[in-house]
This record gives sequence, structure tokens and C-alpha cells, in this order.
Amino acid sequence: MRTDTGQVFHLEDYKPTDFLIPETHLDFSLHPERTVVKSTLQIERREGVASDAPLILDGDDLKLVDIRLDGAVLGDNAYIATPDRLEIRGLPENGAFTLEITTEINPTTNRQLTGLYRSSDVYCTQCEAEGFRRITYFLDRPDMLSVYTVRIEADSSEAPLLLSNGNPKDKGKLTNGRHFAVWHDPHPKPAYLFALVAGDLGVITDTFTTASGRHVDLGIYVEHGKERRALYAMDALKRSMKWDEDVFGREYDLDAFNVVAVSDFNMGAMENKGLNVFNDKYVLADPDTATDTDYAGIEAVIAHEYFHNWTGNRITCRDWFQLCLKEGLTVYRDHEFSADMRSRAVKRIAEVKGLKAHQFPEDAGPLAHPVRPRQFREINNFYTSTVYEKGSEVVRMIRTILGPELFRKGMDLYFERHDGDAATIEDFIKVFEDASGEDLSQFALWYDQAGTPNLAITYDYDQATKTFEIEIEQSLKPTPGQTSKKPMHIPVQFALLGAKGRELRPRSAKGGLVKDDVIHLRKRKERFSFSGILERPVPSLLRGFSAPVTLTSELTRTDLAFLARNDGDEVTRWQALTQLLNAKLTSNAKRVRGGKPATIENSSIKLLGEIAFNVTLDEAFRALCLSIPSESDIARELGANIDPDAILGSRDALISAVAEAHAGKFAQTYSELAQEGSFKPDAAGAGRRALRNVLLDYLSVAEGSSKRAATQFKNADNMTDRAAALGVLVQRFGDSDATNHALQAFEARFGNDPLVMDKWFVVQAMQPGNGALDKVRELMTHQLFSLDNPNRTRALIGAFSSGNQTGFNRADGAGYKFFAETILTIDKKNPQLAARLLTAMRSWRSFEPVRREHARESLATIARETGLSADVRDIVERTLA
Ligand code: ARG
Ligand code: ZN
Repeated sequence: MRTDTGQVFHLEDYKPTDFLIPETHLDFSLHPERTVVKSTLQIERREGVASDAPLILDGDDLKLVDIRLDGAVLGDNAYIATPDRLEIRGLPENGAFTLEITTEINPTTNRQLTGLYRSSDVYCTQCEAEGFRRITYFLDRPDMLSVYTVRIEADSSEAPLLLSNGNPKDKGKLTNGRHFAVWHDPHPKPAYLFALVAGDLGVITDTFTTASGRHVDLGIYVEHGKERRALYAMDALKRSMKWDEDVFGREYDLDAFNVVAVSDFNMGAMENKGLNVFNDKYVLADPDTATDTDYAGIEAVIAHEYFHNWTGNRITCRDWFQLCLKEGLTVYRDHEFSADMRSRAVKRIAEVKGLKAHQFPEDAGPLAHPVRPRQFREINNFYTSTVYEKGSEVVRMIRTILGPELFRKGMDLYFERHDGDAATIEDFIKVFEDASGEDLSQFALWYDQAGTPNLAITYDYDQATKTFEIEIEQSLKPTPGQTSKKPMHIPVQFALLGAKGRELRPRSAKGGLVKDDVIHLRKRKERFSFSGILERPVPSLLRGFSAPVTLTSELTRTDLAFLARNDGDEVTRWQALTQLLNAKLTSNAKRVRGGKPATIENSSIKLLGEIAFNVTLDEAFRALCLSIPSESDIARELGANIDPDAILGSRDALISAVAEAHAGKFAQTYSELAQEGSFKPDAAGAGRRALRNVLLDYLSVAEGSSKRAATQFKNADNMTDRAAALGVLVQRFGDSDATNHALQAFEARFGNDPLVMDKWFVVQAMQPGNGALDKVRELMTHQLFSLDNPNRTRALIGAFSSGNQTGFNRADGAGYKFFAETILTIDKKNPQLAARLLTAMRSWRSFEPVRREHARESLATIARETGLSADVRDIVERTLA
């Protein structure tokens, strides 16, 4: 494990390497505990570099066995090798030479799941960001592109399947029950995209013919017996390949594309060239075991990793500070893909919810960082919602500012100009400037300034001149390391709505820049005035969530209710409703904390009813509207002095009031929505199930009985309805017999499938109130549970710490204390996982004083520990700073 050295890396220190490695040959002799890796590197000194410059290669936890230069064994004083560094001096005068390095590694004891490791007896690799240096010494940085040839040798019985990047070249039998395969990848690539998989797996195959006629063999490899559960992923893959051709003009470029699902994986998946490695959670699905959310997740992640082939692999990043160059852009592409496959509006609202739930708190807390950070201690801690999701929003804003045609022109230029490059954000912005002639220098601040801008908006309508004025003032709070901020270029998509939501067309716009339906805010404070507005309008602002900002406007409750009923843009419509509900939920949370009862007006209840029963709206949208903002949504709105118990009280009061008022019609709608025919994981079906399952929760509250949920649980023919019913049982009926029966039935049925059992762990970890902690402790001793496996750990410890507001943030601090101990245990096995989980405490300063003090104490306990990993050290120190 890499313990912290305190070293900080800075963007401005970037220097190209002194040496290039045009060709890399790797020869793996696989063995569970003693794998031998022989690497043969063709190395060239870069022109202009001094002839006595040493070659310094990266390593991490390596054992050097042998080293030769141009065929001759290197003498002891010609090099210095430590587990994490290899330095060679006295290199040949002409600067071109062959280096052969042999290392020995142990895949079995590798529990941090980077480099080469074993997952359920399958050998696999994870090299992004800096895992390749745990396999062999190398210039392990994204700008070091090399052409790889890989030979893998293993026991035929242990690993009949031998995969690596690129195209298969050779294979054969050896003596002693061993065999080998050779793979060659003609596309130069950085080491982080290297992959190897070897083991005994089942497969489903298919083919895809690209637009220009290339025949591609597709394979998805999974545990034997689970092949059928990979069919949806295969379908999603083929749709992704077609979509990237249709929408971005991008074709696949190898003869083979393979996906392997493994059960121990730190993240979602990895885009290794021609050989994607996936967390099996994002591959395996059938109606009985996967929810609609799982299906949508598989479709999105399969697409994401496939799209990386162009945005990430053919054009990679110059250095890790540019991570958003590939991630933000690829998230944007997978969002567009899902929007095209499903309902665009519903997908967009889900994205906005996700952004607000994860990225906004990150931007508002101690871990805030720019979309392109300028410094880091541990790069793995920057695979964040800011880099990914806000990074995607920034790309979306470029499209909003330029319009679809110029955006596509810019993307085409990006692919044409930078194919084969390790590029930067500056390169990316430049292609859009060149394609459009626009100056995007102010816009580029989105990559550099951390924090969520707020727009304070005021309006003025002059009846006499028929003029409507909007004044917008942008502000951005200081974030760690950035005290003063400059005004940004913020695209605010808008409409002015007259009676019944009709869009009023202004005759002209004056003041700041307005193009079509987009206000281009560029100054700290700007006025925009619209003439020819014949009636007092209600402005619909930030349509489609055109910028990742918060709004404070003087819209009244009446205006908001008007928008919630009439806005033709579903995103602003949903946003207006949410704002109305949040106002109520936060004021009630304060009342409850002060010992007063919650109050609820009939108007909100009536509004929710209208939406619930409006059959002209699609079911998924109605479900989103009826889902009352979550406890953490309410906490975020409150921002300070948070008391989760009061928040739960406020939320439940609203749910009860709505449930009681509409129980009759809810019951009727619930029956009408019952599934007809067999389960299909499409958007329409998912929408009906989502609506029906929100209604199930309301009805269970109104009826004060677990009967309906227990019946749904028992009769469900798919996991969406089964898991939803189980959720209602645990959330609403705690330790009742009905709940325990259902939990036992679930375990009896799925107890041999850990991936499915994760849902069982999650649902119990989320049980509200003080009892959750003991439940979590007890479940940690369950035979299926293991802190060695990231999915299990996230299901129990992750759901508890980031999803259970009342259970985790107990007033007595017991949740934090347990968490700190658990983080220290996990850190010894898997630092990346530990650091990621620990971010659950990033908002600790917003709690009320008693909880805040307990949280500080637990964080301090972690910080006091010696021998922390670099990963956890970085997070804990930034969190406490
Ligand atoms: N590039 C991968 C993706 O976004 C994520 C892998 C990151 N892994 C890591 N250990 N930091 O699809
Ligand atoms: Zn990615």
C-alpha cells in the first residue's frame, strides 16, 4: 500500500518525458501467488535531451527479478531499484535501446484491486489511474503512448480464457498443462488502458458491422451459468455502437470488442482498449434479479465505456489534471444516448436530481475542487462527481451556447485534429472557438473555478410600456484555495409565460446578450429587458437546467404553482414544484426541531393530486413529481444546523397529509397500473412501475398497514416491484413480522447470489432511526458479507453512511464512531474504497452543534492514525481543514 508521503502534484509542473517508449512487449506467466512479468521496451531518448539524462520509471510495490539493457544483464551500480522506482544511468550514447525488465507479483494478496489481481479465481487488471506500475516498471502517465503486444501464459485448467487488448494474433498449447495467447493492439495507448483477463468464464457472443463495413466480434464474459443475464448488456452495446455512428460519426476500430464482468471492482467499469472490464453489477440483469434502475445503469455504463473508445482512448489526456477531458465529455455522451433511448425529459430530471444530490454538496463543502483541478495528492480521489457530472454539464453548456450545429462541427474538428493525441482542456475549448468563431475564454472559467454559482434574480413588469425586465446577479462563494472568483459566462435558457403557459415572444431584447431562448449572463450583474410583452409574464428560467447553478428568485408561491401546472418545459416544471415543496419541508423541519407540529396547506396537497392523476403526463414524470424530496435534499436546502430527526418528521408529515387526502384515488390508480403481460425493461414500463411504487408508499402510510406491500412483495414477478415493496416494509414497518417474513423470503430465494443480496443489505442499512446501527453491525457478520468486496461494502457501509440520514447521523455520535473504526479497517485492505466511503462525512459542518462535535471527533480519530494510506490521509485532512 502506498502510504502518504505528503507529496502534492501541480498542473503547472507538467513536463514531457525525456524518453519515449514506441513499443511495449509484455509476457505474463500467470500464477496465483507468483506471476512473472517480462516486459521488453523499445526506448528512445527524445531529441534535445542531454545524453546523460537518467531513465526513471514508476513502480509500486514491485519486486525486480532481472534487468537487461540491449540483451546484457545490468551491473548493480548501473541502476537503483526500489519497490516504487527504477532509475538507470549510463544509457547508450545514441539514446535508442531495448530494456528488458522482469518482475514478480502476487495477484492473490492484492486486495486493493489495482494492478493485476484475482477476483473469484479470475485474473484481471485495473490500471487507471496508476495501476500499471504495480505490474511492471514503466513511464506510467497518460501521455506515454505505446503499441502493445501481449503474450499470456497460464494453466489451461485454471484459465482456459486468455484476453488482452486489441486483436487476437496467436494461441497454442504448451507442456505441463499450460497454454498461451498473443494479442496485439495496433493503436498506441497509455498504460492506464492496458488490460489482461484470464480465467474460466462463460460467454455470449454477437457481431456488429460498422458503417464502413468492418466486422466486429463482440463477446461478453461472465461467470458460468450467468450468460443469459448478459443479454441486455449485449443489446445495449450494439445500440451504443450504432448510436455513436449516427450521432457523432464515430466507428469502432478493431476486429474484437470484449467485455468482462468481475465481482470485485472498485468502480463501475473500465474502458481498456478493446477489453472493457466491468463491475458485474453493470452487466448482469434479468427481470427476476434486476430493477429498472439496474437496467438503466447497465445501458448507461455499457455506453459510457464504449464511447470512451473515441473520447478517452483515441484521444486521451495529457496528464491526470485533464481527467474531465475524457470523463466529462463521455458522461455527456452517455447522457445523450440514454435520453435518445428513453424519455429525454425524465432522463434530464434524473440527471439534475443526481447533480444536486452529489455534486452540489461536493462543491459546497471542504472537498470542493474545480472541474479541472490544479493540484492533487492522490489522483484516485478526483474521480468525483465534479469531474464527471459537472464536467458533463460544462460540455452541455458549450452546446447550449453554440447551438447543435456548431457544437457538432467543433466535435468533428476535435476528432480530426486530435486523433492519436494526449490532449488538454485548452485543446478542447479551442476546437469550439475555431469551429464557431466565438471567444470562449470567459466560458473556460467553468473548468477552473470551483463552487456552484448562485443567480439572484429580480423582475419588473411595466404595464405602460409592455416591457419586462430581468436582473440577474451571479455570485460564487470562496472554495478551498480559491478566495476570489470572477464572473462566468452562464447560459440561462428561458421563456416568458402568459396565461395557461403560452410562451410570449418578446419583440426585442435589450441590455445583456440574448440569443433565441438563451440569456448569456457574463457580468456580475446584468439587466435584460424585453419589449412587446402584452401581459405580466411568469418567467420560466433555467429551462432544461441549462447551467449547474442555484437560483434565488422572487417568484411567489402562486408563480411557482403556476409553473408546476403549466410550464411546457418539464425540467422547470418539476423544479418549480420541488421549490414549493422544499420551502414547506424546510420550514416544517425547523418547526419540528423547535417542538412544534408541522403545518401543511391544502394547496400543495391539491397540486400533487392534480399531477398524480393527470393522465396526459407520462407516468415516469408523475412519479418524479410525487417523490417528495429526500431527507438529504431537505438537509441540503437547509444548509446549516441540520437535525435529521426533525427532517424525517417534516418529510413524513407531508407524505401522510398527501396520502390521507388522496388515498381513494391513489388506490384506484395503483390498481389500474398493475402490470399487464410479462415484464419489459423499457422506459414506458419502468415509468408505470415507478409511479405505482411511489403510490404503494403513500398507500401504506394512509392505510397504516403493511398488507399491501406484503402482498406486492409476494406476488411480484420482477425485482423492481419486489425491491420496492421490501423497501416500503423496512422503511415503514421496521421490525414487524411482515417485514421480517419478507426479508427471510428474499434471503431464502437469493441467498446464493451476492449481487442480488446487495439489495437486501442496502434496504436494511437504510432503516430509519437509531436501530440501524445495530442492524448494520449484525449484518457485517452475515456469511455473505465481506469488507474485502467493494460491492458488499458499499451496499452495507456505503448505504448506511451516505443514505441513512437518521441512522448514521445519530445524535449520540455512535454512527460516526463505528464508521471511523470501519474506515480504518477497510483502509488496510483497499485504500481507494476507504477514501471514497469517507467522503460521506464531507458535509459534517452543516449539522447542529452536538452532531457536528461528534463528527469532528470521529474524523480526528482517523486523522490521528499513523500509516494511513495516501488516499484516506488526503480525504480526511481536506475534510477537517
Ligand atoms: N475510467 C473509468 C470510467 O469512468 C473509471 C476508472 C477509474 N478507476 C480508478 N481506480 N480511479 O469509466
Ligand atoms: Zn469514464
